[in-house]
Amino acid sequence: MTQPNPSALEALQEDADLTRFNTFGVEARARYLLECHSVEQLRAGVEFARDNRLGLLVLGEGSNVLFVNDYPGLVLANRLKGIVLEGESTLRVAAGESWHALVEWSLSEGLYGLENLALIPGTVGAAPIQNIGAYGVEVERFIKRVVVFDTELAQEVIFDKTDCAFAYRDSVFKRARRGRYLIIEVEFELLTRASPVLSYVPLAERFGAADATPRQVFDAVCEIRRSKLPDPRLVGNAGSFFKNPIVSASKVESLRGQGSDVPAYATDEEGLFKVPAAWLLEAAGWKGKVRGRAAVYDAHSLVLVNLGDASGEEIYLLAQEMASSVLQRFGIALQTEVLLV
Ligand code: EPU
Repeated sequence: MTQPNPSALEALQEDADLTRFNTFGVEARARYLLECHSVEQLRAGVEFARDNRLGLLVLGEGSNVLFVNDYPGLVLANRLKGIVLEGESTLRVAAGESWHALVEWSLSEGLYGLENLALIPGTVGAAPIQNIGAYGVEVERFIKRVVVFDTELAQEVIFDKTDCAFAYRDSVFKRARRGRYLIIEVEFELLTRASPVLSYVPLAERFGAADATPRQVFDAVCEIRRSKLPDPRLVGNAGSFFKNPIVSASKVESLRGQGSDVPAYATDEEGLFKVPAAWLLEAAGWKGKVRGRAAVYDAHSLVLVNLGDASGEEIYLLAQEMASSVLQRFGIALQTEVLLV
């Protein structure tokens, strides 16, 4: 490994406050924190963690993480910036760029495909990790390659799309040991001709058989999201707290046999159905429930919110209570979508 420039560690902070590094806005501390504006800083941070036997946690905007405890290692905040258009429709985007800003920029350049993914909080680097998805589109569809810094090999590695092993809210980057891969850049192949995806019920209802422009889809998605999901700048939250569980056809049948009208959506795998966790939670009475300073959002039962000064533990305990009630009532074990630290 090449020796890092010592000044790359100049911005290293000790015992850092993470409150503004997580959209839940919970108070937590990191033993060390480094905001990285260059790959050199990332590399220096990785070496510092290795030399001092510290755990490594990479954050973008912290929009999918709950700090249940303080973090005893090094937090690297990815602030790499830059967007390069190559050829007609290939975009190379640095991992620290804001996701929503990229969606808006691509539309203004006449590049399409990302409009259904408007307003998803977080950075571009976080998008492939959990294969972000919304309103009928998952980002994997537009990803060509992902450039990472592999902390085990101590070098940059390129993952082609197939190496990323994308699945529902999942990828090779999420399954690897936490901190192994630092996303540096994501390469997208976008569309030069609009091909709107209107299959998701709220969009289908809005546009019917009519055609919609990508800009109209973008506006509709923003409006739907704003009506259902709290703005993390106003109310601390991390979007969906749990994943939608995938269950067997016989499970769906048995739930319906018990008189429930649980919705179930076919998946790509035969005999397996996705059931909305929000529906299960609402049926179990969780919508709008308050536990101290933590609560279930009153417009969407899959979203946990910080009513102000909630601790990570308080939110975590509420989530545990919710999951165990769903297990008891429906025999379905919910898995968190949010990363628990
Ligand atoms: N529902 C309820 N109660 C509620 C809300 C929803 O019963 O309070 C039921 C309804 O039957 C509704 C269904 O749940 O039709 C699905 O709800 P919604 O359309 O809001 O989507 P979701 O399944 O809860 C998923 C993603 C979201 C994404 C939306 C839109 C996951 C874990 N979440 O939510 O992603 O924005 O679809 O595509 O897959 C995120 O990952 O943080 C996120 C917000």
